[in-house]
Amino acid sequence: MNSAAVSRDFARRLELAVPLVQAPMVGCGGTALASAAIGAGALGSLPGAAMAPAALRDAVAALRAEHAGKPVPVNLNFFCHVPPAADPAREAAWREALRPFYDELGVSPSAIANGPGRLPFDDDVADAVEALRPEVVSFHFGLPPAPLLARVRRSGAQVWSSATTVAEAQWLEAQGVDAVIAQGAEAGGHRGVFLQADASDITTQVGTMALLPQVAAAVRVPVIAAGGIADAAGVAAAMRLGAAAVQLGTAFLLCPEATTSAVHRAALQSQAARHTALTNLFTGRPARGIVNRLMRELGAMSALAPSFPTAVNALAPLRAAAEKAGLGDFSSLWAGQNVSGCKAIPAAQLIAELAAGL
Ligand SMILES: Cc1cc2nc3c(=O)[nH]c(=O)nc-3n(C[C@H](O)[C@H](O)[C@H](O)COP(=O)(O)O)c2cc1C
Repeated sequence: MNSAAVSRDFARRLELAVPLVQAPMVGCGGTALASAAIGAGALGSLPGAAMAPAALRDAVAALRAEHAGKPVPVNLNFFCHVPPAADPAREAAWREALRPFYDELGVSPSAIANGPGRLPFDDDVADAVEALRPEVVSFHFGLPPAPLLARVRRSGAQVWSSATTVAEAQWLEAQGVDAVIAQGAEAGGHRGVFLQADASDITTQVGTMALLPQVAAAVRVPVIAAGGIADAAGVAAAMRLGAAAVQLGTAFLLCPEATTSAVHRAALQSQAARHTALTNLFTGRPARGIVNRLMRELGAMSALAPSFPTAVNALAPLRAAAEKAGLGDFSSLWAGQNVSGCKAIPAAQLIAELAAGL
């Protein structure tokens, strides 16, 4: 099959009117955004890494009720990390590094919760997947252990995962995934990097224009392009480079259906959004966001940040205090390198614009 035929076949299997995927986005995308994407004929995604199984069940039920009688292609997205063992010495060093900020904002480190940060894919979540039978389950940071993955497959869902290198794409294909998301280094949010001992070595990360054609040549499964794609020309270019579909995150961040915070929206609409960087400060894993005060003062990549996802906790009270004052100094302002497609228009309109000319 040529690449246009692969794309058509891919969309047909998922009953998509357009080969576009609204990216799952912890913190910025929920049921409303997924619903708008589905209504516009794209694949809607829910950010399962921040949703307990009960919330996932409610969200999928709401989507199916809202679009009753029509195809409701939904993607449930999960993170495949192993929660790290407690490391009190590292946590203490991190809090010490943050002490000047706690003092300045009058925040007590005792207000820090020790929550899980982000939920890993486990048996409880697999129960929910089996009950919900979504069209797609996509993973970030590799794949879950074989018994859990087998449960997802048995549910009938297509299994996708992000690859940030050609080697990761080949590894995923060898594990039997149904599609690979080629996530270029321009992408906003977390890098899906998983096949290297040190996830914070960002020298391995490749831009979309270089990654996509190499991945498309290296694997036989459909490839979904992600990273820096912001308009119809970018979508068309990705398809030309071998993509069967395109996954966009940043472009949706200003849509009214997104749950993007006020400080995040303001940053996206400011000149600051022209400068993004990969940073591990906010969660412990590299992710792309708009450069802000914390990144400037501690350095975007720091050996001090605790392991993913525990770094989230110590920053939470600082973020809350700063956001109350209208500042995004301690917030993860996730954004890709191309914010030119961010528009405060309904997601359905954005999808129609992105699909123009396909
Ligand atoms: C705010 C934000 C949150 C994200 N959260 C997730 C997530 O929860 N799971 C995931 O697989 N990818 C996540 N991503 C990455 C997207 O799946 C995708 O790779 C990326 O948005 C594509 O690049 P773009 O932002 O330039 O469109 C996120 C991206 C953004 C911008």
